[in-house]
Order: sequence, then C-alpha cells, then structure tokens
Amino acid sequence: MTGRASTWYAVALSRKIGAKPHRVLLGGQPFVLFRSGETLKCLTDRCPHRFAPLSLGRVIDGTIECPYHGWQFGGDGRCRSMPGLLEQPPNIAVPAHAVREQNGLIYISPGSQRGKPYPGVLSGPGTVSSVVENRVRSTLLDVAENILDATHTHFTHSGLLRGLSSRRWKVRVSVTGGNGWVEARYEGEPRQEGLISRLLEGERSISVGRFIAPGIAELEFWGRDQINLSTTFHLRQEDDDHVRGFCVLAGPRQGGLGYLKALLFKPLFMIALRQDQRILTAARDNKPPDALPVVSRLDVLRPSIDAILRGERPAVADAPFEITMEL
Ligand code: FES
Ligand SMILES: [Fe+2]
Repeated sequence: MTGRASTWYAVALSRKIGAKPHRVLLGGQPFVLFRSGETLKCLTDRCPHRFAPLSLGRVIDGTIECPYHGWQFGGDGRCRSMPGLLEQPPNIAVPAHAVREQNGLIYISPGSQRGKPYPGVLSGPGTVSSVVENRVRSTLLDVAENILDATHTHFTHSGLLRGLSSRRWKVRVSVTGGNGWVEARYEGEPRQEGLISRLLEGERSISVGRFIAPGIAELEFWGRDQINLSTTFHLRQEDDDHVRGFCVLAGPRQGGLGYLKALLFKPLFMIALRQDQRILTAARDNKPPDALPVVSRLDVLRPSIDAILRGERPAVADAPFEITMEL
C-alpha cells in the first residue's frame, strides 16, 4: 500500500470533457478543463482581467477565450491575444495545473505533484467497471469515514447491505497504516445477508476498507481466492459544504457474468448511496458549529483519516492494532 498516496484528485469523467470548457471546484478553488487539440489542459477558472470564469467562454485555436472582453489564453496559461490591442499582449498568465487522464477519469494536481493518480485495486483488462458520480453536503472526513464504516450498515442500510435480522458475528479487525494511508481488514465474517451481498459476493472471506491520500476511500470484498467486488471512491471537498465523488465499481469479468452483476449492482448501490447521503446531510445540518464528535473504540479508521487529511502521519503507522467486534 505504501507509495499509493499522491496529490492527484479525480475531478471529472473523461467523456464529459469535449470541445466545451468545463468548470470544476476543488477546495473552494475553481478550475477549468478543456481540450486544446488532442491535449487536455487545466487552468485556474478565473480571468485575471475582471475575474470572469473562463469556463463560460469558448475554446478557439487551441486557446480558451474569456467571455467578457475576449482575451485568449493558451494551455500554458499565457495570454495570447487581447482584442483591440495593436501591439503584442503583455506578459500576463492564468495559473496552469498538471492534468492527467486515466481509466475514464480526469485528475488534476494543483500546486505540487507527488505520486500517480490511483487507479483502484481492480483495474485494467479482466475487470468490469462502472462509475457513479455523487455529491453530498458534508465534509471529506465524514464521507470517507461513512464509506469505510462497517458499523452503520445494520441501521442505515438494513436489508440492503445487511439482513433484516439483528444477527451479528464476531469479526477480527486489523488496522494498519503508513504515510498517507490506513487500512482495516475484517476477518471472520460469513457472507452478509443483505440483498447486495446475496446477489453479488459469493462466498466471502475477507473484506478490506482503506483510505489513501488525498481522497480515496476503497472497499474490497474477497471470495475464496480473489477480489469479487471493489468500490473505489475518488472524493474531493468542492467547497466548505460539499463533497463530490466518483465511485468506480469493479469486479472480475467472469465471461459475461461480470457485466450482468454490474448491471444488477448499480441500482442497488445507488439506493445505498442515497441512504448515506440522507443521514450524512441530516447529521451535518444538526451539528453545532464547534461541537466535536465522540470517537469510540469501534470507529477504527476515523482518527487516522483525520490525521492524513491534516497532512500528518497517522498514529497507527507506528502502532498497528487489532480489535474484535460484533458486526
Ligand atoms: S474579464 Fe476576461 S477579458 Fe475581461
Ligand atoms: Fe453506507
């Protein structure tokens, strides 16, 4: 797992970026993505003249044209043309940012660049995948924890991920981590009884939940000797109040069966997402501004995700631990 942490954020689906410029938000900052010929470009989405969003303009001759007074900027951010000016345009520029395309997603790394965009634990040939986009009023910490939290499923997703009975199993949870990542491994849980698990997972042996900087929350469900299903969320804080994510659902191709499972899984998964969205938003709106949440022994990942998001090394990196709980 070490070395997977990076500074790359998935911000758009490749297929959404064509001839028209596209605005995305990351950490309250606006960015514009556009294709100049074959190459993808990313600039700060703010014209330095009167601060109009460049994304409201158009792409012309490989440059992006501001909708207000028509200044044109190249993919490197330099001003190429200032309509009406009879001499060369002055030496001004919009900040340009590193951008990459991988497995149908577009990633940016504003400021410094470290590591590579994370492809997900299951990717490439032999894998079937499908992407779901989601936006919720919450924080990155709360959303990442929610995705990786095994203890809420009995209640928030009763019947869907879990059975309707209150039956629980003793599960051994091992938590490990390092710079920029943390992982919990769950052993001893038989197949879950919810609808999704019944349909898809086959025989379950181990499941793993991990967080990787800057915004990956990933679950993997193992059968006897392979991963049957993985869900990789690429999350980012858009502004103070919203988190947006692309979730890549992936599984082994298994002839045509993989596709069939993916088809069945997606709508159920969307229901689970909405259930989470509802509770996250209600909790967010109910939180007093300065209140701190109680972190229990069962919340095995939250302190680490919190540390990683603050740029710190999680304590678990030097003190891995195990706990047995009933799930
Ligand atoms: S605001 Fe962009 S050209 Fe004037
Ligand atoms: Fe959930």
